[in-house]
Order: sequence, then structure tokens, then C-alpha cells
Amino acid sequence: MYSECEQMLGEASATNNVCTGGYLLSCFYSPSGTVFILKKTSVFVFDLFKAFQTYVVSRFLLGRNLRKICGGKWAVITGASDGIGKAFANELAKYKYNIVLLSRTLSKLENVAHEIESTYGVQTKVICVDFSDDAIYEDIKTQLNGLDIGVLVNNVGTHYGIPGFFVDLPEKKLRDLVSINVSSLTMMTHLVLPGMVERKRGAIINLSSSAAQFPSPLVTVYSATKAYVDHFSQGLCIEYAKDNIVVQCLKPYYVSTAMTFNVSPNIFVPSADSYAKSALATLPYSRRTCGYWAHGFQAWLFSFCPEWLWLRAAYYWHIFLINWLKRNHVE
Ligand SMILES: NC(=O)c1ccc[n+]([C@@H]2O[C@H](COP(=O)([O-])OP(=O)(O)OC[C@H]3O[C@@H](n4cnc5c(N)ncnc54)[C@H](OP(=O)(O)O)[C@@H]3O)[C@@H](O)[C@H]2O)c1
Repeated sequence: MYSECEQMLGEASATNNVCTGGYLLSCFYSPSGTVFILKKTSVFVFDLFKAFQTYVVSRFLLGRNLRKICGGKWAVITGASDGIGKAFANELAKYKYNIVLLSRTLSKLENVAHEIESTYGVQTKVICVDFSDDAIYEDIKTQLNGLDIGVLVNNVGTHYGIPGFFVDLPEKKLRDLVSINVSSLTMMTHLVLPGMVERKRGAIINLSSSAAQFPSPLVTVYSATKAYVDHFSQGLCIEYAKDNIVVQCLKPYYVSTAMTFNVSPNIFVPSADSYAKSALATLPYSRRTCGYWAHGFQAWLFSFCPEWLWLRAAYYWHIFLINWLKRNHVE
């Protein structure tokens, strides 16, 4: 019985192989098949063109464009004392923006401010605030009053640290995830955008994450907050296009920073400096991008992955990560 089945399956697959070739050919010659193949090909060619423009052409043209697109004299960056925020502060100072640095550790902020002033000869202003506290925005408003702000980088963010199950998260961590990842960019944008609208120029760069591409079990709340960043950015982008305001959403994969336990940089994990340089160059070309070519390639590959497969793969990847981090005593 077993061998009969095997034989039948073998014959079926042999017939299938012949049929598959024939079927593909007939697809190509039928009108709907031709439309399907042309559609897929044109999407692929467009994606390739867009990637070339976003990640290659942008590198050569940004110098000419950035000040023209954003205007203003000041750039405001949240979470600017370390990682990607610090790298953005340095990158924007290269374009002669004065820099407002917001973060929670005064000594780190002062060091970065001093470094930027002495390297690029621009002014800096330090605002020491903890974004887990929702009562800080009146103070920030007062301190930003009167500044001609061309760029706002909503970068501050917090992660789980070690992935984990929802009910095991302390209440404070849940509140922090929402305040730091969601309230901060909403409130900072609400403070800065009116001035940009008045001047009819400006750019807002929001740090989302690849974790927003699909839901991510075991970092569920982080991934949900980053999906908010994505939707918020896309909505505002259209609302304020009429006022020449550019709103961009960045969705990086791994970048080597404290958040990723300072994993060694490699082709898929850029340093914060390489990431910020590449991401800033994409500003004129894309409203929603990974910001770095190898991350764009990863996102393109994952776009073929069905959501059910992603959800399970992310779950088991995070289980593996929890065990690995525990084995290596990473807190
Ligand atoms: N690194 C990645 O692989 C990656 C991937 C995708 C998305 N992202 C997103 O990129 C953004 C930056 O990440 P990062 O890796 O550069 O992070 P990071 O290296 O951990 O730096 C975070 C920055 O935010 C500040 N900060 C943290 N909590 C704060 C709070 N409660 N109040 C005020 N400031 C606070 C930190 O200040 P202190 O120095 O004082 O702590 C630091 O300057 C985040 O939104 C993150 O979600 C990162």
C-alpha cells in the first residue's frame, strides 16, 4: 500500500514538473498571465530604482539639498546623549545647524554638546529631561521658545532590554514604553510643528523600527509603540505637505548601540554614525525607509514572508535570545 502511494506521488510529481513549465508558459501567453508578470516586473524595477535613488544617489546630493529642504537655524534631537541620537546631532552639526540636545543624563549631554561645539563651531543648547515623566513639556516649550527650528529628530526610545512575556513586565516598564516611545514624539511634534508651519518649512524625522513591519511577540509593546510612530508619521506627512513640511519615518533593523548591547558592527549592523549619515541622506528621497541599504535589503526579503510565519519565527527567535542573554549573564 505504502509503495503504491509512493509510486502515485512520484508519477504525480513527474507530471507536475512537466505541467509547471507548461503552465508558466501558458500563463505568459494568456492576457491575465502577461498582466501579472508585467505587474510583478514593473514593481521590482520600480523598487530597484527607488533603492538606488534612496541609498546611492542620496549620498552625493544631500549637501546641496538639506538646508534648502529644512530651512531654520536649529535642529532639536531627543535622546541625543548616546547612540543614534548623538550620531544625528553630529551629522546635523556638519550642515551648520545649531543643536538642541535633550536627554536625561546631564553629564553625558554636556560632553556631547562640548564635542559638537568644538568640532563644528556651532551653538548648542542642553535640555535635561526624563521623557518617562509626562509633565516635562511646559518646561521644554519655554526653553525652545524663540528658536528658528528647521529639524526635529524624535529619536528617544526605550526597549524591553531582555524580551519577555507581557504579564511579567513591571507596570513602570509599560508606562515608560508608552511615555518614551509614544508620548514624547507626539508632544515634541506638537511643540515644534506650529513654528514650522508658520515658516512654511521644516523636517521631522521619527525613529520607528523594523519591529513595526509585523507584530513582534515577546517585545509586543515595543513593536506596537513603533507601529504608532509609523502611522503617526505617514498621517502627518500628508497633512502638512501643503506647508512644505517633510515628515519621515525611519525603520532600522539592528544598529550597534547600547540598546543592542553594543554588538560589533558588521555589514547588517552599522555603527550609529554610519546609520545616521546614511539615514539623513535619504531625507529628500523617502518618507518611509529603513535608512540604510542593508536594512532595506532585509526589509525587502522579509516582505515575502507571510505574517503567520514571521510571528512564529519572531517568537522562537526571542525565546532563543532570552536564553542566550541569560547564559551570557547580560542584564
Ligand atoms: N539600536 C537599534 O538597533 C535600533 C533599531 C530600531 C530602532 N531603534 C530606535 O532608535 C532610537 C534610538 O535608539 P538607540 O539604539 O540609539 O538607543 P540608545 O543607544 O539606548 O540611546 C538612547 C538615548 O535616549 C536617551 N534616553 C533613554 N531614556 C530616556 C528618558 N527616559 N528620558 C530622556 N532620555 C532618555 C538616552 O539617554 P541616557 O544616555 O541619559 O540614558 C540616550 O541618549 C530609539 O527610538 C529606538 O527604538 C534602534
